[in-house]
Amino acid sequence: MGKQIRLNAFDMNTAMHSAHGLWKHPASERHRYKDLRYWVELAQLLERGLFDALFLADVYGFYDVFRGNRDAALRDAVQVPVNDPSLIIPTMAYATEHLSFAVTIPTTYEPPYAHARRMSTLDHLTGGRVGWNIVTSFLPSAAKNFGLDQAVNHDRRYEVADEYMEVVYKLWEASWEEDAVVRDAVRGIYTDPSKVHEINHEGRYYNIPGPHLSEPSPQRTPVLYQAGTSAKGREFAAKHAECVFIDAHNYESLKFYVDDIRTKAVSYGRKPEDVKVFMAINSIVGRTRAEAEEKLREYTALRSEDAPQVLYGGFSGIDLSKYDRSDYLSYFASDHGQAAVARFTTMSEKRMNVGEVVDEIVKIGGRSALLFGSAEEVADQMQAWVEKTGIDGFNLAHLITPGSLKDIIDLVVPILQERGLYKTEYAKGTMREKLFGPGASRLPDRHPGAAFRRAGEAKERSGT
Ligand SMILES: Cc1cc2nc3c(=O)[nH]c(=O)nc-3n(C[C@H](O)[C@H](O)[C@H](O)COP(=O)(O)O)c2cc1C
Repeated sequence: MGKQIRLNAFDMNTAMHSAHGLWKHPASERHRYKDLRYWVELAQLLERGLFDALFLADVYGFYDVFRGNRDAALRDAVQVPVNDPSLIIPTMAYATEHLSFAVTIPTTYEPPYAHARRMSTLDHLTGGRVGWNIVTSFLPSAAKNFGLDQAVNHDRRYEVADEYMEVVYKLWEASWEEDAVVRDAVRGIYTDPSKVHEINHEGRYYNIPGPHLSEPSPQRTPVLYQAGTSAKGREFAAKHAECVFIDAHNYESLKFYVDDIRTKAVSYGRKPEDVKVFMAINSIVGRTRAEAEEKLREYTALRSEDAPQVLYGGFSGIDLSKYDRSDYLSYFASDHGQAAVARFTTMSEKRMNVGEVVDEIVKIGGRSALLFGSAEEVADQMQAWVEKTGIDGFNLAHLITPGSLKDIIDLVVPILQERGLYKTEYAKGTMREKLFGPGASRLPDRHPGAAFRRAGEAKERSGT
């Protein structure tokens, strides 16, 4: 039996995530994102397909780099309008038993004390089926709305995030002892005050005395996701992330990121297998290749030329409208996302001029790599990505919501199962146990976050 492939759905609580222009497709149900029933139906579909998680992206701010304003983003629904991702999770958790939820929340704008309580709440309400995608926010347009004069620069954001992690580890791991809540009606004690501790964090960016407001939840620290792949981003992932989410377009660059992050993780006392890697990918699956080709023609006719450039402008800070098609991009340390700049400069397989860059990103599936063809072909492609790069699975974006995911579940999952590459039932337990094995509900002792535990605390329940 080969390595088991893990699947997450990559979605966002918004009118259009990354399927440029395809909100216009008659089969798209994206406009229902404001309807809880839409999310419940999606969660139940994913659970039928034995998906590990629904990964919910989020941004604060508008994509306003392209042509220097937000008009194209609004016109084409490029991740706006966008609603809060965390509020839809409890209802989906109630309607499912095993599916986990990874939610994106930015360290730059959400204060750690409130954030820690929100994640503890979600961990309680989902029975330990929650993860946090740690982002630092790449859209400067958010900064002023959160009371900052200007956006925090790229490397500083990661530095602040590192201290932020220290604060939340202390709140989650150290503030409340495991047996603090006794609910002893005879003695009249709900919580033993001697077992709830201040954290007294005094740092460069935060001074937070604590204690945490929530009692220990099933996982205490939610499963930690991260998605930045600049040098700073990889260092951060290697130290903190248990799941890394990577956007890559060829085997070589993906393998480079995977190997580099796992090697760096070892330097933090972790094991390479402590970091699961998921690749961002799109899919067009047909019962036959001809059917997939027909879908591609249909989608191409509806695609938007602006939307992918709007998105790329936000990711990279590069306004492609300012260039001639014959110009070339050069790498620079962008304050938006540096991996997005590297994609068409230092990490590019071939030198491309701006015209070729635009043609590449406006293709259907141009944001993320594309699985394409008959179900058998798509299963082969998934297998090849996993075997050639060492990733653990995919965060599957979708061009048609929820149709693209339904095709994967109905057509591709059975083939992967026949090949012994996909589970036939869920493992029991929390999100972290499903990823790392029975008994691993808590951060493993060798994770840097575990160092903030009180001596002797929670060891017996952490992974090894
Ligand atoms: C696949 C993928 C998904 C991401 N999802 C989000 C997101 O939902 N919200 C967000 O603010 N940033 C998101 N990011 C951005 C990263 O967190 C990071 O800020 C960005 O990649 C820049 O970091 P870097 O320079 O280290 O690459 C995502 C990045 C990638 C590659």
